[in-house]
Amino acid sequence: MNTTKKRRKVFQRSRWFALSLLIVFTTGRAWAASPIDEIPFVPTPIEVVDRMLELAEVKKGDVVYDLGSGDGRIVIRAAKKYGVKAVGIEMDSWLVAEARAKAKEEGVEHLAEFRIEDGLKTDISAATVVTLYMLPWFNEAMRPRFQKLLKPGSRIVAHDYGIEGWPPARTEIHDKVEIRPGGLVHRHTIYLWKIE
Ligand SMILES: C[S@@+](CC[C@H](N)C(=O)[O-])C[C@H]1O[C@@H](n2cnc3c(N)ncnc32)[C@H](O)[C@@H]1O
Repeated sequence: MNTTKKRRKVFQRSRWFALSLLIVFTTGRAWAASPIDEIPFVPTPIEVVDRMLELAEVKKGDVVYDLGSGDGRIVIRAAKKYGVKAVGIEMDSWLVAEARAKAKEEGVEHLAEFRIEDGLKTDISAATVVTLYMLPWFNEAMRPRFQKLLKPGSRIVAHDYGIEGWPPARTEIHDKVEIRPGGLVHRHTIYLWKIE
């Protein structure tokens, strides 16, 4: 592993540690957020990614957008497993570089696109499926854009955080159990909405 990669890993681990402390010292809810909270990179486990894409019923012709795409795993998985066009929107240029390299490695760079953009402002009108692993304030801020810009039949799937005041069509708790720092037991929740 080269020095840049090592530094990046240490940086990611310390962000994860800071996040864990926040979890442990707050009410027990993961990511007790205030409206100004920055959203760190915390990856969705691949089993949960798979279930999110299944619940969204991704099929040929869909266009999947992951808002806050991190290392690109959701986008790359959608492209590889379903052969669909998928777009990752991410503010962190390092993560975008990592995601692009990974997409190339996986042979899906023609399907997987990554843009360094603010997910709150990006044009999502081409999406038929939107995936999220963001904080509640972000999801809530996106709701009017989802309702205005997404076509009927589009699906939104969110990991762990719902959208206040917008009941999902489906909520599922994943079988995977994770023990997080501090001994906190975490079960992953997936929410699904459909645009009528
Ligand atoms: C919890 S991670 C989720 C990563 C990936 N979607 C997954 O599920 O594995 C959230 C990501 O959103 C990015 N992010 C935070 N705010 C953002 C914004 N306004 N626009 C785009 N990306 C953002 C962070 O850099 C981070 O990589």
